[in-house]
Amino acid sequence: VTTRAYWEQDHSRRRGDPALYRPTTFAYEALDVLPPGATLLDLGCGNGHDSALFAQAGLRVTALDVAAAALDAFLPIRSGPPVDRIRHCITDIPYPLEDRQFDAVYARLSLHYFDAATTARALGELHRVLRPGGLLLALVNSVDDPEYGTGTQVEESFFELAPGVRKRFFSRASLLAAATTARFSPQSATTQGTFVALRATRPA
Ligand SMILES: C[S@@+](CC[C@H](N)C(=O)[O-])C[C@H]1O[C@@H](n2cnc3c(N)ncnc32)[C@H](O)[C@@H]1O
Repeated sequence: VTTRAYWEQDHSRRRGDPALYRPTTFAYEALDVLPPGATLLDLGCGNGHDSALFAQAGLRVTALDVAAAALDAFLPIRSGPPVDRIRHCITDIPYPLEDRQFDAVYARLSLHYFDAATTARALGELHRVLRPGGLLLALVNSVDDPEYGTGTQVEESFFELAPGVRKRFFSRASLLAAATTARFSPQSATTQGTFVALRATRPA
């Protein structure tokens, strides 16, 4: 199963589920620190529930996902600037985005599917598209996730759960290390249930 085929099918299967259109707690937390007018990349945006919240708060959103089925399932944004939608794979670098284009990158549950080297390259690309002083907000699977250690281990903390379905699990320490290696300055890494949340800035 290719990444794209897997996610196209996943989004098509769940299409129309109203629960999928509720903005998430992590997005409300992001809004607390992002002023109206800020430019934001929603990386692995899914069907745009969080992108819609950001746009309605006046942020200028670029929403990127590998699955056309996700981008097609966006609801009309009721107010705020239009959301720019891009079908692109996170591992396909460079992204069709400018250097220093964004005040913030928001990556909710989209950066834990890759091996360590690929994750590092993706973080490097996010560094490129963030302006100096820009903010990276990421939420990823933690090692407390019940799926951690299941399936077949591919490398440390990275497992194939089903054919072609791979997940990485982070500790606070490994997430901080990944961010630092990609030249971010971490502000915080906190455990949230079975996830870890990172807030980091791209230094000037
Ligand atoms: C768990 S969902 C999270 C969706 C949304 N951010 C949220 O928090 O509800 C993971 C999303 O990442 C997207 N995705 C997975 N792998 C990707 C890749 N390699 N490139 C771009 N998007 C990817 C999927 O299509 C899916 O929309």
